[in-house]
This record gives sequence, structure tokens and C-alpha cells, in this order.
Amino acid sequence: MVCGPGRFVVEGNDVDAGKKLNVGVLGLGRMGTVHAAGLARHVPRARLLALADADLSAALRVAAELGLDVACCSTDEALSRDDIEAVVIATPTGTHGGLIERASAAGKHIFCEKPIALELEVIDQSLDVVASTGVLLQVGFNRRFDANFQRMRSGIAAGEIGAVHLFHIMSRDPCLPPLEYLRTSGGMFLDMMIHDFDMARFLIGEEIEEVFAMGAARIDPRVASEAQDVDTAMVAVRMSGGTLGAIDNSRRAVYGYDQRVEVFGADGLLRAENGAPDQVERIDATGRHGPRPFLFFSDRYPQTYITEMRGFVDAVLDGGTPPVVGADGRAAHVAALAARKSFELGRPVRTDEVNASRSTEESHRASDQPW
Ligand SMILES: NC(=O)c1ccc[n+]([C@@H]2O[C@H](COP(=O)([O-])OP(=O)(O)OC[C@H]3O[C@@H](n4cnc5c(N)ncnc54)[C@H](O)[C@@H]3O)[C@@H](O)[C@H]2O)c1
Repeated sequence: MVCGPGRFVVEGNDVDAGKKLNVGVLGLGRMGTVHAAGLARHVPRARLLALADADLSAALRVAAELGLDVACCSTDEALSRDDIEAVVIATPTGTHGGLIERASAAGKHIFCEKPIALELEVIDQSLDVVASTGVLLQVGFNRRFDANFQRMRSGIAAGEIGAVHLFHIMSRDPCLPPLEYLRTSGGMFLDMMIHDFDMARFLIGEEIEEVFAMGAARIDPRVASEAQDVDTAMVAVRMSGGTLGAIDNSRRAVYGYDQRVEVFGADGLLRAENGAPDQVERIDATGRHGPRPFLFFSDRYPQTYITEMRGFVDAVLDGGTPPVVGADGRAAHVAALAARKSFELGRPVRTDEVNASRSTEESHRASDQPW
């Protein structure tokens, strides 16, 4: 927002931004809707041309809800249009690998929601195709773009708390998703905690070297019996520079979306608390009461989805490196795989135990990126 003399100007897509990037969104569920709205309204250098979904009615519904005058079509049609220069992949995770390969082959730059894929082999194949076609790929680790976490990272890098000794990342969703979702999600470590592994790399600036995971179905036993997953997990982490960390996840916090981080160092600590829709406190005969935290990711992190997309569009138009590259997605995935293996085996697992198929050169390149 620009503050002019006597008026506020909200920066929207009506701003003349020079050359624009023509974009199509693939998958118009929860995340596709967020990205379509952001691209259409808040990314001035993007021009949204198409919404594509395997279920055409989903694309039509989103276009109508958002009041967008864009093409609603199949994925094939979107990928075959010459005027579409980039695609946002917001389809279920199991489809990402195939779509990345097809979009790359069609010469489209790619913004792909996390995770890149569920299997490391598919991720490696996707990254190889991206590299060979020369398109840019950005991965949707949106939390890196949150103002609190960016402030923490710059404070750590500037030495505000001295040498970092410990971190604690708490990430708890407000409600258990349907069992059907859990069955195809890849499980809590790959689907949910992957954000937190990325946050650990982003904040601490070190690679994840070893994890020791515990998990349980504490909310609903059917999560274990019918989805072979956990709904509650705690992971101890050792980073490559020696920093120790704890990450805990729950699929159900009754008070809302709980996203807190603390980083502790030789000279103090940095802490980011939950946001809330208002800051009003009521004190009465029963005690002190405040608002509940934001309900879920689209309430807590709306600006992050816009900022990450602006970063992607700028990288394509200006010929730069995307702010979150494929190797970042791979490194967080490797940590998640190690956590899953640790949970299954009941012992600590080093990330290089699950990272045999590719040299660590790639992930070191990724770790250079945030710093
Ligand atoms: N970054 C975040 O905060 C965040 C939050 C939620 C989900 N995600 C990720 O976003 C992705 C999508 O999740 P969601 O919750 O929005 O899913 P969703 O189920 O709400 O929506 C998926 C949509 O994709 C469509 N679809 C399925 N296969 C398709 C195909 N081959 N081509 C085109 N359309 C297809 C479906 O019809 C549906 O409309 C997942 O990878 C998930 O991990 C990221």
C-alpha cells in the first residue's frame, strides 16, 4: 500500500507494471483458489489467463466466485496454449511430478505447491527434467515469506542472539482432515511437517543432518488403523552446524491454527507468537480473555501467498533465481523421509541414510539460497 497525499492507494493488478507474465492455474481446490485470487488481484506483473481443473466445474465455480474473466479449461488445453508462459500447480501432491514434467516439456515456468512429489525418485526425475528444459521452478514454502519469520531469520543472521543453540517449531492445524485426504497425503511427515523442516533450514541456515521421530494417533485411532498415519508427532532434529531443535505437529488444536517458533542462542532468544484477528483483551470475573488465533493457513498467511507469487513472477520476468528452488523442496523432503523412517524403525535416522540417490551437492546449493 502506498500512502499518498490525503489518500491510500492499494497496489493491485490495475497498476501498469510493464511486461506481464501470462499464467495459468492448474487445480482449483483450496490452494488453487488462493493462488488464482492472488494472481488476479495482487500480483501486478502477472496476467491470469486460465483456470484448469480435472473437474471443469471447479474451475468454473472459482472463476464465478472471484468474478474472473478467464478461460476455464482442461490441463491439456492450458499446457498447449502458446500464450501461457507459466503455470501454478495446485493439484493433489500425487499429480505434481507428472505435471512438472509436462509443463517443463511445454516450456512453461512452474510454481509448484509443496511437496514436489511423494517419492524421492519422482522428485529427482522432475528436477532433472526442469534442469534440462531450462524452465524455472519455485516450490510453495510460503511460510518463508511471513514477516515474523523473515524478521527472525534476519535477526539470527545478524547475530542478535549470538550462536544458536536450540529451536522449537510448533505447528498445529485446527482440525483433522478427512481420512480420505490423509490416505493420499503422504502422511504427516511428508505432507505437514515438511513445512517445518523447511522453516528449520530457512531460519537456522544449516542442513538437517539427523532426526529422531515419534508419532501417535492421539486424536482419532482411525488415523492409524484406516489411514496408516499419525495425527500427533514430535521430532528431535540435529542440524549440520550442531544446532538442536524440536518440531511438534498436531492435526487438531481446538483453539485454532497454532504456528509458533522460538530460537534460543547464547545471547538470548527470538520468539514469534500466533497472530489473531484482533488484539482486544477482556478481563472479567472469570479471568483474562483474548481472541483465538487465526483459524487456518489462509487466514494466518494470506500475504505470504501473494509475496511468494510476486517473487516467482519477478524471477521469471527479470531472469533471476526463484526465492525457493527445487533443491529446497528436495532437502525438506529428504528430512521428512528420514523422520518417517525414524518413526517406523524407532531410532534416530541421519538424512544421508535416505539421500543415497543424489550427491549432497544439490542440497548444499539449496542451503546457500536463503543466506
Ligand atoms: N502451501 C500451503 O500452505 C498449502 C496448503 C494446503 C495445501 N497445499 C498443497 O497444495 C496442493 C493442493 O492441495 P489442496 O488442499 O488445494 O487440494 P484440493 O483437493 O482442495 O484441490 C485439488 C484440485 O485439483 C484438481 N485436480 C486433481 N487432479 C488434477 C489434475 N491432474 N489436473 C488438474 N486438476 C486436478 C481437483 O479436481 C481439485 O479441484 C497439495 O499438494 C497440498 O500439499 C499447500
